[in-house]
Formats: sequence, C-alpha cells, structure tokens
Amino acid sequence: MKVHTEIYERLKAYGQTQLLAFWDTLSESEQRNLLMEIAETDFDTMQMLYRKAREASAGDAQRPFEKLEPLPCLDTTVLTEQEKILLGRSGMDGIRNGELAALTMAGGQGTRLGHNGPKGTFDIGLPSRASLFEIQCRGLQKVSEKAGRPIDWYIMTSTINYADTVCFFEEHGFFGYPKEKIHFFPQTMIPAVTEDGKLQLESPAHILRSPNGNGGMFVSLKQSGCLDALERQGVRYIFVCGIDNCLVKMCDPLFFGALRTANGNVQASAKSYIKRDPGEKAGIFCRMDGKPGVLEYTEIPQEYAEMKNPDGQWTYGDTNVLNYIFSVEAVRCLAEAEIPYHVAVKKLTYLDAATGQSVTVPQGYKFELFLFDTFLCLDDLQVVRIERTEEFAPVKNPSGIDSAESARALYLDYEAKQPRKWEEKI
Ligand code: UD1
Repeated sequence: MKVHTEIYERLKAYGQTQLLAFWDTLSESEQRNLLMEIAETDFDTMQMLYRKAREASAGDAQRPFEKLEPLPCLDTTVLTEQEKILLGRSGMDGIRNGELAALTMAGGQGTRLGHNGPKGTFDIGLPSRASLFEIQCRGLQKVSEKAGRPIDWYIMTSTINYADTVCFFEEHGFFGYPKEKIHFFPQTMIPAVTEDGKLQLESPAHILRSPNGNGGMFVSLKQSGCLDALERQGVRYIFVCGIDNCLVKMCDPLFFGALRTANGNVQASAKSYIKRDPGEKAGIFCRMDGKPGVLEYTEIPQEYAEMKNPDGQWTYGDTNVLNYIFSVEAVRCLAEAEIPYHVAVKKLTYLDAATGQSVTVPQGYKFELFLFDTFLCLDDLQVVRIERTEEFAPVKNPSGIDSAESARALYLDYEAKQPRKWEEKI
C-alpha cells in the first residue's frame, strides 16, 4: 500500500514524517494500524504540549493560581468512637442499598518502582505473598460480606497492561470474588515526545504512547460504557483509589457515611493525612482562586510547602491520599471537564527512525492529566482527614522511603494493632 499523499503531507507539515520510517517493511494490516494511530493523533495538541514542556524546562511555567487558601477538613482523628460508629453505620446502610461501587486506577506504569508488569501484580513480601490486587480484593470482600452483597469493582488498566491484568485475575481465580462483579476497562493513551519535539515509534507499526494520567479516568469510564452500566444498576456513588497503597480501606463505610451525611449538595470527597515533611512527594489540598483543588508536589512553591500557622501546624498540611468518592452525577459532569495536561520529564525508549535500533534517552516528555484538576469544576469538595499510619502505606520506590519494605512494615504493624476496633460495631 502506498502512503496516502494527504497523510504524508500532514506529517510533513508537522515535521513528523519519521513515523513512516519503516512503512515499506510493514504488512498491510500493520500499515492500517499505523495509519489509524496517526489518524487518532491530534498533532496540534502535541505541538502545544511540546511548547509547554519547553517552557516548563526553561522555568517559564505559570503558577496555576493567583490566590491560595487552606481548605477546611472533617478531622476524623478527633471524632469520638460514637461519632465514628454513626458515620460508619450510615455508610454501611448505603452499601447495603447498592449505592456504592469501587474503582481502582491501575493504569500507571510503575516506572519508579521498576516492576515488570502491572503494578497491581506486585508482591510486597507479606507472609501471605498477596499482590497489591489481592490486598484490595480482600478489603472489598470484607466490606461486601458485612453488607451482604458483593460490591461492583471497576479496574482501569492501560492498553499496555490490560491483557496482563485480566490474565493475572484469571490465573488467581479472581481471588474468590464473584467474577461477574469485576469489570476491566482501558484508559486513553497519548504519544510521548523526544526533546526535539518529535513523536517516536515504539515498534515499526506503533507510535510510542503512554497512559494519559489518572485524570483520563472519567472520560475512559464513560467511553468504555461502564458509566452507563453503573447507572443502570442504580449505583449512585463511586469509591476511587490508586493501586499502590496497601493500607487502603476499600469502600470505607466511615468515608462514605461522611459524604452521605454532609450538609448541602456535596458531590465529592477526598481523604487527607497530615504531611510528613514539606518535601513529601504528595499533593496538598487547598482552595485555588476560591475553588477546591490539589496542588501537586511537583508544582507547589516552596514558600507554601513550608508555611506554618502560629500554632506550629502546617498551613497546607492536608495531603492527598488518592482516595475519593464521587457521585455518579459528578462523574458524568467531570467527564466533560477540560483539564490541562502536565508535563513529566521521563526516560524514553524508542525505535530510532534513522538506524532502526532501539535507543533510550534519559529525558523525554510524557503528558498526564491529573484527576484532581477536575475538582476545580466542583462547587465544593469534602476533605476527610484520617490517621496516616492506619490508612497510608504507599509502594512507589524500589527501596527506602515509600518502598515495598516500608509499606510491608506499616501493614504488619497495623495488622498487629488492629486499631479500628469501633468498626466491629457498625
Ligand atoms: C499520586 C497523586 C498525589 C498523591 C499521591 C499519594 C496524582 C496525579 N498524584 O501521586 O497527589 O499525594 O498519589 O500516593 O494523582 N494511574 C493510572 N493511570 C495513569 C497514571 C496513574 O491509573 O495514567 C494510577 C496509578 O496506577 C496509581 C495512581 O494513579 O495507582 C497514582 O499515580 P502516580 O502517577 O504514580 O501518582 P503519584 O506520583 O503516586
């Protein structure tokens, strides 16, 4: 097949003809695939993102706000047992009524961790040898048993790890969870760009792309048809979490109860803990120009990260656990939200168009949407502060801080203490 002149001219206009470097060696079906990937690529957007990446590298990035203020929270660490039981009971009632589904964002590539395969398949070395997926599944099983009904579990993968994720669940008999209650859907991908602004090939017939960040979740949930399915089942809220926190309280009834009983028309809530230190790699909750939001660790100005109140507490101390609950109504609305891409400077491996060899460059640009940027479209957000040691043990790095070793120690410590005794009374 000859390349259609129109496509060649289009690539030429954007300086991207290297994507056709292996065209003559491709089979017809490979050529069709590559044409489809080219057709799916929005080259104007890629050009704009590249410009933004260069500006950020030159230190010209603009602050995403003019006025920053703290965001108040519901501090559950100071509630009495009775207050916790009441909130927990309200949440459990909602779960019994089938109001809540769970969603795990497992589309990230776990580059920092260095694990080969979906991050959820990672074994953190517990005596049970449970993977991160199994740990979450056991948590869901516990709440489902208490509620007397299995909670629907949606798992977002990338297109790269979709098949491996589904196979892993099949090989492990879905960890004994009802198979029909687990639903997998892939998230959208976006091309990466090298420092010269060129898109690259991952293989002769595939453009180098990566998942478009956890902010792609709302659109992907809608496009996959899962959002319609949720609504058909009468689900009213979705509990959302990442895959890398082995102390996550799946569908936490207290968290849900806090949203169900909140004053006013609050459509979303998020958990926070008090940050360890100003340099912690986590986002902080705040109000930006009057709207609720999260300022990511990569973007918070140091003066705000280090700011303290007269009583010695951090002014911006409430840190993003990456546990949210959204009403289904809000999800539908947020799927339409226009949010900006953030630039991540990362190592890239691609097929060099000139030599045909695989090359790795230390610095290329990947682009990601952040889920919490959609918060700016919400009128209000309920922030629920929890005790870090009871609910946050992230697995992000191969060693040291936030590694399998530190997460395992926190997990075993929590198991030995079983601090949430009041939960037995809900
Ligand atoms: C994230 C939060 C940060 C928070 C911290 C707590 C974002 C952008 N940042 O940081 O505010 O304090 O967790 O641990 O949310 N994922 C996808 N698809 C993607 C990218 C990521 O599903 O395209 C998933 C990952 O699998 C992971 C989660 O989102 O479960 C977090 O992603 P990651 O990019 O690693 O964010 P962190 O830097 O850990």
